[in-house]
Amino acid sequence: MIRKTISLLMIAVILSISNIYAHEGMWIPILLKKYNIAEMQKMGFKLSAEDIYSINKTSMKDAVMIFGGGCTGELISDQGLLITNHHCGYGSIQSHSSLEHDYLTNGFWAYSKKEELVNETLSVRFLVRMDDVSTQVLTGVLDNMTEEQRHRIINNNIEVIIEEATKDNSYKALIEPFFYGNQYFLFIEEVFTDVRLVGAPPSAIGKFGGDTDNWMWPRHTGDFSLFRIYADKDNKPADYSEDNVPYKPKKHFPISIKGVKKGDFTMVFGYPGSTQEYLPSFAVDMIKNKINPERIAIRQNIIDILIGDMNSDPGIRIKYASKYAGVSNGWKKWQGENKGLKKLKAIAKKQEQEKKFQAWVNADKSRLAKYGSILTDYEEIYSVLAPYKIAEQYFFEAIWKLETIKFTARIASLSRKGAGYTQKDIDGLKTYAKKFFKNYNLSTDKKIFNKMILMYRQNAGSDFMPDFYDFMIPLKYFKVSEEVALRAYTEFYFDDTFYLDEEKFNEFINNYTVESAKKIKATSSYKLYASFITSYLTKISPVTQTYSAKLDSLDRIYMKAQMLVDTSKVFYPDANFTLRVGYGQVDDYEPRDGVFYKHYTTLAGVIKKDNPKIYDYNVPQKLKDLYATKNYGQYAENGEMHVCFTASNHTTGGNSGSPVINGNGELIGINFDRNWEGTMSDIMYNPDQCRNISLDIRYALFIIDKFAGATNLIEEMTIISE
Ligand code: ARG
Ligand code: ASP
Repeated sequence: MIRKTISLLMIAVILSISNIYAHEGMWIPILLKKYNIAEMQKMGFKLSAEDIYSINKTSMKDAVMIFGGGCTGELISDQGLLITNHHCGYGSIQSHSSLEHDYLTNGFWAYSKKEELVNETLSVRFLVRMDDVSTQVLTGVLDNMTEEQRHRIINNNIEVIIEEATKDNSYKALIEPFFYGNQYFLFIEEVFTDVRLVGAPPSAIGKFGGDTDNWMWPRHTGDFSLFRIYADKDNKPADYSEDNVPYKPKKHFPISIKGVKKGDFTMVFGYPGSTQEYLPSFAVDMIKNKINPERIAIRQNIIDILIGDMNSDPGIRIKYASKYAGVSNGWKKWQGENKGLKKLKAIAKKQEQEKKFQAWVNADKSRLAKYGSILTDYEEIYSVLAPYKIAEQYFFEAIWKLETIKFTARIASLSRKGAGYTQKDIDGLKTYAKKFFKNYNLSTDKKIFNKMILMYRQNAGSDFMPDFYDFMIPLKYFKVSEEVALRAYTEFYFDDTFYLDEEKFNEFINNYTVESAKKIKATSSYKLYASFITSYLTKISPVTQTYSAKLDSLDRIYMKAQMLVDTSKVFYPDANFTLRVGYGQVDDYEPRDGVFYKHYTTLAGVIKKDNPKIYDYNVPQKLKDLYATKNYGQYAENGEMHVCFTASNHTTGGNSGSPVINGNGELIGINFDRNWEGTMSDIMYNPDQCRNISLDIRYALFIIDKFAGATNLIEEMTIISE
């Protein structure tokens, strides 16, 4: 009897622990059975762990892929049709766009397979299988080794395992560290390289709300695009060929149009890129109070210039749309992250945990010997490291990303080859330059350049100045202010850098000889570029690299110790762009006291935002007509067209395009963003505030069917209506 009471009590304790972490976590597919499936089923999941991941039978993992370089996608027909976000397909949609065929503006729809567009550089990767290979990878590794010795052994072991895993097949294999190198997993992947564009709504739907609404709820974006995977006649991966046929997958997701209700179970199955949940307070403090403010300020200045130029000229707007989106995405996220960390009192929370950790360490002699100095080591490292990290931010964010610097870097690499260059090098640079000039506006670049060299000078720290500030514009001898001197220098720089003019560049490259290398090296752009690199390599990176090796070892030990402190807690590893499961529920939230955010939005909200004068809110006439006539087909709910919904799945960058799956294993949405109040989830998750934002799949189907009339695509899908 007593025994039973105790065990019931224990269950209650375990349940209450797991409740705290109910929606937090990005879980490893092969460990669901052990750690998560019981809770998932309690929350409304009706299938088994084997239905999600299995190597013995068809499972959901066979329908989920890495799309391109940093997104997720999933199969939705037995003919290789896949869906991902519009912002994930953006590059490919843009590459097919021209003035005559402006698919970004007007959308693109293939009404037959013949009309689909080939993408030369796009690929998708499916997970064939994953295994815990920690024992093999760590064989021969001893606690008292240096990081270097450790790396050497690990890398050798990894090489052997990968060779073994790929010797009789055409798969790709990779091994990734988990929990800061306490564990290692092997991933076997099948890579398809013939992936064709099938459909994309106009940006006015797929990117509706643009950067204004980005990272925000309520949201009204139809963020999806469609592609098709092709394979050879044996259904195996093959590079593009006319003879290729649509891939016949083992599994595709059925699509539910039954609707999404608050409290419904949701699961996000995809590729979260990177999180840092186990950092010590010192690191969070550095990110929040030192790094984020600097990078926000840098980007704020770039954005101000870009907005001014883009608003003054539609041509510049088109050229810089994608660059602007990239700059603005991080800028906005870091602001949300900082607000969220502050509101959550994240640093104080971490300090509290550290106090408990230290008490646990102090309670035992052997712990004291092993872990006694971890926290003080961290404190010391981060205090030394902070100024270097700030300087590094300035180097990478302000200088390295400048268009003129990127182009110079490309040209410099040709000049470094001296007489050893080939025609292929020349052709490569020509192709690069063509793309560069297509989206380049010299006066915009000049303004940003001017601002960035000034910001670097004023904020990167006096120990990290490249000699360029002295030898090219000996600032200390100027009678005018640094600002004025740098402005004058900027004029000179852009006059002197002849290759930023397309015609002059073409003339130069078409007549390239060994002598031309000298001409490049004589430009002030080359000298400035070289001076910044030298200062980075001599004044910044030696220190950041030394400390990052120290941190590698400290992080690994601290992670292991944190897991020992609380052995009843199930830890999930930080995201590392490997396949994970997040699960939660459809949920609303209160962003501030007195404010309530519903869990879904509708087409009525799109129409309310309509404003032909504002680029981000210019609703296409056809969509307005469909709204006016309520022509929603089978996709409406009580006469309303739902557009997006929020849920409490723990997601991050890379989860874009991930399938959002209901309790029956059916597709109900496509993940594409998070809410502003919840972006700190990369560092600390708050179940009250963190929401992932998904496109309601019914809106995608409505757009494909009623807006585009691409019923050919709808017919391929498996639609579940009751
Ligand atoms: N914030 C989302 C993500 O991090 C969407 C970004 C694309 N959309 C945009 N308006 N920039 O990727
Ligand atoms: N928008 C992100 C992505 O593209 C998702 C996120 O950060 O929530 O992956």
